[in-house]
Amino acid sequence: MTLRSTDELITEARAGGRAVAAFNVITLEHAEGIVAGAEQVGVPVILQISENAVKFHGGSLLPIARASAAVAQSAGVPVSLHLDHVEDEALLRQAADAGFSSVMFDASHAEYAENVEATRRAAEWAHRNGLLIEAELGQVGGKDGVHLGAHEPGARTDPDEAVAYVAATGVDALAVAVGSSHAMTTRTAGLDFELIERLRDAVAIPLVLHGSSGVPDEALAAGIRAGIVKVNIGTALNLAYTGAVRSFLDADAKTVDPRKFLKPARAALAETVAQMLAVVSG
Ligand code: G3H
Ligand code: ZN
Repeated sequence: MTLRSTDELITEARAGGRAVAAFNVITLEHAEGIVAGAEQVGVPVILQISENAVKFHGGSLLPIARASAAVAQSAGVPVSLHLDHVEDEALLRQAADAGFSSVMFDASHAEYAENVEATRRAAEWAHRNGLLIEAELGQVGGKDGVHLGAHEPGARTDPDEAVAYVAATGVDALAVAVGSSHAMTTRTAGLDFELIERLRDAVAIPLVLHGSSGVPDEALAAGIRAGIVKVNIGTALNLAYTGAVRSFLDADAKTVDPRKFLKPARAALAETVAQMLAVVSG
């Protein structure tokens, strides 16, 4: 199958009253496991590579991007490539020639006016290069250890501000702060469904939920019914992957061939992907 565009996958999901899931890729095994999980349930998926993952690869985008694109191209389900949580404009500009059809430009840490100005510039560039651009308003906590309480100022996206932000920046999708937080290892986040509905009614563009690993299945399904169209998931995969590595090595002190423990780890990751896709694509 050829690489699909994130725009198509979002549009198709939205038309069907579903969401599309975007899973974080850190290593080649993540990309392989995500696609294997999506194939198990026959559901389209987005492979997303974050700026932090690029930093992990020594600042080089192309090796992991090209590998992910190759995995996507041989998938039996539609797959697109998304560059996630980009703060560095130089990295943003590399997205055009690396197989990505969408980017998330993240200036959510900045004051409102600065967020608008930086995101507007990024959106102009993205549109000139045929990319869908997502941006964040209100801060989803949990990035780099910054934890906002669910009711702290800035932890929620204001609908009126969202309308102004979308008009001023020209972005195509909006990451909203509605109760989830990044990097949660328990599924205990509570979503504000009423706020999601107000945001959906206020802005015409699709809403994106970040930090979805911490959201219980029922809340995820209800959030999608309320208006979420793209669901970002990372930590849940790492829990499954690292858990499988740990239990293999705990039981076997002699193995040195990494394939012995990476194989069950990739399979555990695929299983989590399949379970979460069943919820997301309901
Ligand atoms: O953009 C990536 C996601 O928001 C992942 O968040 O690791 O908490 O699932 P998570
Ligand atoms: Zn995120």
